[in-house]
Amino acid sequence: MKIEKVVVIGAGTMGSGIAQWFAQELCSVELVDNSSEQLERAKKSIFDSWNKLVLKEKLTSIQAEKMKKLIEFKSLDTVTKNADLVIEAIIENLEIKKDLFQKLDGYFSEHTILSSNTSSFPIHLMAEAVTLARRKNFVGLHFFNPATIMKLVEVIKGKESSEEICEELYQWFDSKGKKPAMCKDSPGFIVNRVARNFYGEPLRIVDEENEEKMKEVDRILKEVGGFKMGPFELMDLIGIDVNYSVTCSVWEAYEKEPRFAPHRLQKKMVDEKRFGRKSKRGYYKYD
Ligand code: NAI
Repeated sequence: MKIEKVVVIGAGTMGSGIAQWFAQELCSVELVDNSSEQLERAKKSIFDSWNKLVLKEKLTSIQAEKMKKLIEFKSLDTVTKNADLVIEAIIENLEIKKDLFQKLDGYFSEHTILSSNTSSFPIHLMAEAVTLARRKNFVGLHFFNPATIMKLVEVIKGKESSEEICEELYQWFDSKGKKPAMCKDSPGFIVNRVARNFYGEPLRIVDEENEEKMKEVDRILKEVGGFKMGPFELMDLIGIDVNYSVTCSVWEAYEKEPRFAPHRLQKKMVDEKRFGRKSKRGYYKYD
């Protein structure tokens, strides 16, 4: 499979990390957002990260300059129509994603693979927004945060996705050092379904806004469970708004099974715009 030209839509936490990873793999990347400020922030964060790698001698300045030339920051109507792969990484809202996919379907060439980095929505529901001809080229590609470091990529075959394209994507990511996993098209796929309880149970254990208790749960899960991050630290990294949307959509999809239920603290945090690291305030403070 040839993946040389990639368009990433949404320059937030995930989109900027995904775009950075593809540029590091020497693909030509166009990163799109409907907010020009967000595009500026993404550019600064990606370039700063490469500059730091140069200082640490993990990258030469020639390599960093080459990557900088490979990535462009753009609005959707100016990107190349003949991209090989498009990855959608916008807000976790099914209707907004479907509206976008309808536009993308009309815009990109026939051969372009359209994919979503959704954390929880079944791929076949999003595929309803595109023409029958496109559906074979419509898949889920779920990266993990931070996308430049986390090796797992879930490759999700929707009802009408081509088996061959999914298999080729799997092989392509494997050849680039990622650890792909082929997944069933079900809400939350593998990791986000299992992870619901990694977040939900600690929230039910702590049950109130108490930083000391949260720290204690984070510490125990790291020390005893061997996790790199505790659940509260991880929710702050992911974004409490994103994590809450995923919780709600998995819970709804499983007919409100209590084990997937969102906790009132998650909603409170979102209502107070305490989204975690990105807003400097979540379960913990980041000043
Ligand atoms: P984010 O909130 O950091 O970024 C979303 C970006 O999309 C924002 O910059 C926003 O301006 C932009 N946007 C919204 N609507 C748009 C549109 N119509 N066209 C162009 N840009 C638009 O969100 P984040 O965390 O990057 O999540 C993006 C997607 O990735 C979601 O589907 C989420 O569920 C998924 N995801 C998130 C993970 C995480 O750890 N945060 C992990 C894996 C998947």
